[in-house]
Amino acid sequence: MQILIFEEKKELLDLLAMNLKMNNGIEVIPKLFISEGKGFVDILPEIKLIVINNSTEFDARLDLIDYVLKEKEDIEMIVVSGTIKTEHPRLMLIDRINDPEELLGLVTKKFSEDFLSQEESAYSPVSLNNLSYFKKLPVDIFLKLKDRDNQKFLKVLNSGDSLPEDFIQKYNDKSVAEVFIAKSNKDEFSKEISKLFLEYFKAKSQKENVTFESFEEIHQKSFEQMTDIGFSPMSTKLAMESVGDLMGTLEKRKDFKVLLNHVYKTDAPYSYRFSYMTSLIAHALVKKFPWCSESNLQTIMYAAMFSDIGLTDNHLRLRTDEKLKKSIMGKEDKEMLKKHAFENGNKLKNVKGIPAEVSKTIIQHHGAHNGLGFPQNISAQVTPIALCLIVSQEFVHFILNGDNKINVNEAIDHINERFVSIKLEPVLSALKKCILKP
Ligand SMILES: [Fe+2]
Repeated sequence: MQILIFEEKKELLDLLAMNLKMNNGIEVIPKLFISEGKGFVDILPEIKLIVINNSTEFDARLDLIDYVLKEKEDIEMIVVSGTIKTEHPRLMLIDRINDPEELLGLVTKKFSEDFLSQEESAYSPVSLNNLSYFKKLPVDIFLKLKDRDNQKFLKVLNSGDSLPEDFIQKYNDKSVAEVFIAKSNKDEFSKEISKLFLEYFKAKSQKENVTFESFEEIHQKSFEQMTDIGFSPMSTKLAMESVGDLMGTLEKRKDFKVLLNHVYKTDAPYSYRFSYMTSLIAHALVKKFPWCSESNLQTIMYAAMFSDIGLTDNHLRLRTDEKLKKSIMGKEDKEMLKKHAFENGNKLKNVKGIPAEVSKTIIQHHGAHNGLGFPQNISAQVTPIALCLIVSQEFVHFILNGDNKINVNEAIDHINERFVSIKLEPVLSALKKCILKP
């Protein structure tokens, strides 16, 4: 039996996959994106359940639900969504999950009895990536040797060991996705890792303090946060009005429905807050330059709102080539992240009514002229508008991931450490000029 899971939060995906995998006989196919996994529905013979908690790919999600309900009579679905209205006996809709345990409990309960396997084996599989959550391993870890008939297992790490730094990368490179633990340790392992995941989630949501706020609340909080830092209330309000007008104009356009769905991701509040606040700061920043014009202001607001569509909250925090390389996410995911500036820039190319510079600005928004990767050296070709977007994004990243009290000089030091380019100097001094009381 197989379960296909689409979950856009990497940690929740790991948690679900791990807990379900512990039941022998279930094969769990975890995927971050619907687009990368949809083909599996036709190919895999034994899918019994599809779980979707992904609001990023709005249209792909609807397509998949439609397809499964019409064409696949054996497959049930659990979908987390507050907007889908379809009713079907094989479709269970959950408005939203406030706690990761909720979804886990639901999925486990729904199919646990069917999935209890009679097969006897002394070892249980666990996901290789799950090991990265432990400072010290709670149990012995084994690898299954290729000799299938004899089911040989080789102990590779001892309980109490710290995970060697290159362990996951090494086996990932060899396409090993699973390691094994003794079945007698199953409960203990499951308990330990669930505890770690839940602590991680709690710490994260407390730190971000963004638990399912409405857009109005996010706008209000962004205003408060910016004026706290020292941005003038008047220029912040002005930026808010401009961004509001611009989004209002787009909402009336049918051809923007798909792109706007990416921006208004109710299940991923960090990403909305990130792009909204970036657009406010970028607006204030461009205002400080003699080349500021209505068209340039529009360009930077569009670029700030659409530069990272398709990325999850976790992707957004991954902002250097080095971190991308070290990350344990899958190859396809890494490739997508590496190309997102290029891809998103092209989505906004030659769109009626959108300034021509928007596409180029998005392509350059991580400092590479071709839109690939997260270099430290900013390319010489990067335009002044794109430089303003780069600085605004890094600034917002610093604000949203730091302590409550933000000092603008610390944020500027962070940007200077992150990038090597003398071209940033005028933008950083413009940023200082935006602050009333540094
Ligand atoms: Fe980006």
